[in-house]
Amino acid sequence: MPDLVAVELDAQEITWEFAPGRSIPGFAFNGEIPGPTIEASVGDTIEVRLRNNLPQPTTIHWHGVRVPAAMDGTEAVQPPVGPGETFEYRFEVPDAGTYWYHSHTNETEQLERGLYGALIVRDPSDPNLDAERILHLDDLKLDPHGDLAPFGDEHEHHAGREGDVRLLNGRQEPDLDIPAGTVERWRIIDTANTRFVRLSIGGRPFTIIGTDGGLLPQPVSATEVLLTPGERVDLAVGPFEERESIELEALPYDRGKGETPRERFATLQVGSPAASSAQVPETLRHIDPLVEEGAEPNRTISLKALMHEGHHQRAEPVRVGDLQVWDLVNETGQDHPFHLHGFFFQIVQENGAMPPFLAWKDTVNVPRKSQTRIAWLPDDRPGEWMYHCHILEHHAMGMMAHFEAVR
Ligand code: C2O
Ligand code: CU
Ligand code: CU
Repeated sequence: MPDLVAVELDAQEITWEFAPGRSIPGFAFNGEIPGPTIEASVGDTIEVRLRNNLPQPTTIHWHGVRVPAAMDGTEAVQPPVGPGETFEYRFEVPDAGTYWYHSHTNETEQLERGLYGALIVRDPSDPNLDAERILHLDDLKLDPHGDLAPFGDEHEHHAGREGDVRLLNGRQEPDLDIPAGTVERWRIIDTANTRFVRLSIGGRPFTIIGTDGGLLPQPVSATEVLLTPGERVDLAVGPFEERESIELEALPYDRGKGETPRERFATLQVGSPAASSAQVPETLRHIDPLVEEGAEPNRTISLKALMHEGHHQRAEPVRVGDLQVWDLVNETGQDHPFHLHGFFFQIVQENGAMPPFLAWKDTVNVPRKSQTRIAWLPDDRPGEWMYHCHILEHHAMGMMAHFEAVR
């Protein structure tokens, strides 16, 4: 039987102690950064009562969840919730996966200051691993005195906002404990304003089992995976040996702003062994391809034009039930994580080549000077939607467009 999951989220100012003895004024849901994890099963209804105790308006967006348009939490579908006001969100969760919720008002500041959390939707057929953990990857930009650096300087408009403090679940480079011999499901979310994370777990092999829109058809072995802002990945991690110490780090990556150094997010400390009954099945789910190889696009989106035309762009409507094949063309000198609200898409081609595996996505990195073809099917949820670059400073600058889904 579907359940009703009722949650109260109180957005408030807190003192955010991100490292022992180091704090900044943060914004938090229920006093926690990240905010409380919302957990539900497929088919449940989630009801969230947001109370805004911040000194500025806010809204909540349910990133990746196929909500009705009116519940999308953007200013296109609701007036922002003012200080002292409340708003009730109510929607069903139709798909299992790792999602997240975050402010969709003055995002560059509100996400940097901590207004985000995970939303996990489970299915009875999920693989059984020994344990599960949620990892929010983030960073903080401080000034030379250790205070939050001011928002919106010219450089940030173009390059985005990246800071030197790397956070895992709201703490600077913490230690994580894992029992030897066990295999865990890690649900990883890039909640940063701008930071790309080419994630490595000490160079050890791991298994990718899911992305934005839930499980992959088959598990994929890897030693690294790129997460860009907004993206999620589910991994099967382990087993490790007792007393190992393994760094979770970002490997060098050039998103068009020069190659970043290797950087640590956390250290995994392997403790005494525990029994394991973890099993990653060879088939995780079935995904039908939306289009055949070679399907022609019916729309081209120039990311350069999207970036430079500024606010309130309106794209052509889409009709419910009409297959969409879009070419995302990035002529600019930097990578842009393209995010579509409310619907999952499949990657059809990356620079003309088939992607390595089929998956449901809501955010995809389009590397500089490249193009990505996606396909998606507007199901029957008419209303106002949007797509945008998930580098929040680019979104704020107007790298976005509104469109309507019509019947
Ligand atoms: Cu997480 Cu409009 O996005
Ligand atoms: Cu979204
Ligand atoms: Cu961008």
